[in-house]
Amino acid sequence: MADSPGSAPTSSTSSGASPEPTPRAQRRIYGRRVGHRLRPRRRRLLEELLPKLRIDLDDPRWQRVDPRELFPGAEAVELEIGFGGGEHLVWQAERHPERGFVGVEPYLGGVARLLAAVEEKGLSNVRIVVDDARLLLPRLPDASLARIHVLFPDPWPKKRHHKRRIVNRETVRAFARLLVPGGELRLATDDPGYARWMLEAALAEPRLEWLAERAADWRERPPDWPGTRYEAKARREGRRPVFLRFRRRPDRIAPT
Ligand SMILES: C[S@@+](CC[C@H](N)C(=O)[O-])C[C@H]1O[C@@H](n2cnc3c(N)ncnc32)[C@H](O)[C@@H]1O
Repeated sequence: MADSPGSAPTSSTSSGASPEPTPRAQRRIYGRRVGHRLRPRRRRLLEELLPKLRIDLDDPRWQRVDPRELFPGAEAVELEIGFGGGEHLVWQAERHPERGFVGVEPYLGGVARLLAAVEEKGLSNVRIVVDDARLLLPRLPDASLARIHVLFPDPWPKKRHHKRRIVNRETVRAFARLLVPGGELRLATDDPGYARWMLEAALAEPRLEWLAERAADWRERPPDWPGTRYEAKARREGRRPVFLRFRRRPDRIAPT
C-alpha cells in the first residue's frame, strides 16, 4: 500500500507524538462539558435514560469493559470517540441493528442529543461513556472492536497544545490492540496539520495498513460514512476534510 496516494497529507517527523505510553491514564478533558441550559426534555433524558445506557468509568464494576458482555449476541461492536451530536453514531446504529455501538463524549449537550435520537428511533444497540475516551481504552480487551471512529477530533493546532490531541501514537497503538484483525480505524479532520499528524501516527503502527490507493480515497467520504455537524461547518467555512481509513492487519502466524 502506497504511503502517499495522490498528494496525500504527508507524514512528517515534527509531530512530537510520544512513542511511549503514559504510565497511568488520567482524565484530561479540555473544552466544555456542559453547554447552554438544557431544555426540560434533554434534562429528563439525562436523568432517566442515560443511567440505563451509561458505562460509568468511576463505578468499580466498570474496571473492565467487555463489549461482548455489553451486547450479548451482537455480531460485532464499534466505538466512536467524541461523537459530538451523535449523528454519525445514530446513522450507523440504525443501519446495523446486529452490531453494538459504544459512544464516548464528555460534552453533556451532545450526550442529550444522542439520547433524544436513541429514544425517538427506539435504538437498543447503543451504550454511552460520558468521559475522556483515554480512560476507557485500557479497560477494553484485545481484539474486541470491529471499527473505531474518531471524527473531527479537536485539532489543537498550536504546538504547545499538541499533547492534548486525542489521536497520537499512544492512542493509535491502543486502537490497533483493540481492533479485530481486518477491523477498521476511521479518522477524519479538517486541519491539515492534524491530518499529517494522524497519518504519521497510524503509519508508525505496524499493525495498521492505510487503505487509500488514490487521492479520492482520502478526499471523499466513503458512502457508508455519513457527514457530521462539524464536517458541515468546516465545509461552510471553506475547509476541506480528510478521511483516513486503516485496516488492522492479521496477527502474524508464528512459523512452525
Ligand atoms: C470538533 S468536535 C467533533 C464532534 C463530532 N465527531 C462531529 O464530527 O461533529 C470534537 C468532539 O470531541 C469531544 N472530545 C474532546 N475531548 C474528548 C475526549 N478526551 N474523549 C472523548 N471525546 C472528546 C468534544 O467534546 C467534541 O464533541
